[in-house]
Amino acid sequence: MKLSFYGHATFSVEVKGKKILFDPFISPNPLAKHIDINSIEADYIFISHGHGDHIADAVQIAKRTNATCVAAAEVAGWLQKQGVEKTHGMNHGGFFSFDFGKVKGVNAIHSSGLPDGSYGGNPLGFVFVTDEGNFYFAGDTALTADMQLIPGWTKLNFSVMPIGSNYTMDVADAIRASDFVNCDTVVGIHYDTFPAIKIDKEEAKRNFETAGKKLLLPGIGETIDI
Ligand code: NI
Ligand code: MN
Repeated sequence: MKLSFYGHATFSVEVKGKKILFDPFISPNPLAKHIDINSIEADYIFISHGHGDHIADAVQIAKRTNATCVAAAEVAGWLQKQGVEKTHGMNHGGFFSFDFGKVKGVNAIHSSGLPDGSYGGNPLGFVFVTDEGNFYFAGDTALTADMQLIPGWTKLNFSVMPIGSNYTMDVADAIRASDFVNCDTVVGIHYDTFPAIKIDKEEAKRNFETAGKKLLLPGIGETIDI
């Protein structure tokens, strides 16, 4: 599977020829100035929660690409009000089958107000089960024992987890989370964008290595095979 990182919590994967973009926040991110949002293709845009640093570019990219936006029902309804035509509302619960594979909305310990103050429901993580591999996008979350449920649903190939602390898990908790989900390959996100979430990347990688795990920190605009 190919994964492209666009800074903060924004990344995309390609599954069965479908381009799936996550939590688009590019144009307001000074670290992602070199990314042209008009160059990003998407068949689907998954949005973990309503905060601006996860949804800022969703409407613009969805309108240009005609992508289907998948999010908590309240966030999906808000996107409809902004003129996004194709949305799919989910909540914590069972798997839903899309044309690329199936996805389950799972618990994330966080909050989810929308940029204009609208109620955004509960934040979500997503578990993807596809013919080309299985992965977990944790969204913005603290460490939660609920993550231990995930290995009962699928064997993950990789996880995408926040590591920047303050608003989400820090590196130490992400290492514990990777134990909980039984997957030692983690793509770290949600760090360095703001002063409160600056981290020492080399130290973070060393800590994962010491725990017998791999922390991948692709550069902004970099595509990796995973
Ligand atoms: Ni957030
Ligand atoms: Mn965030």
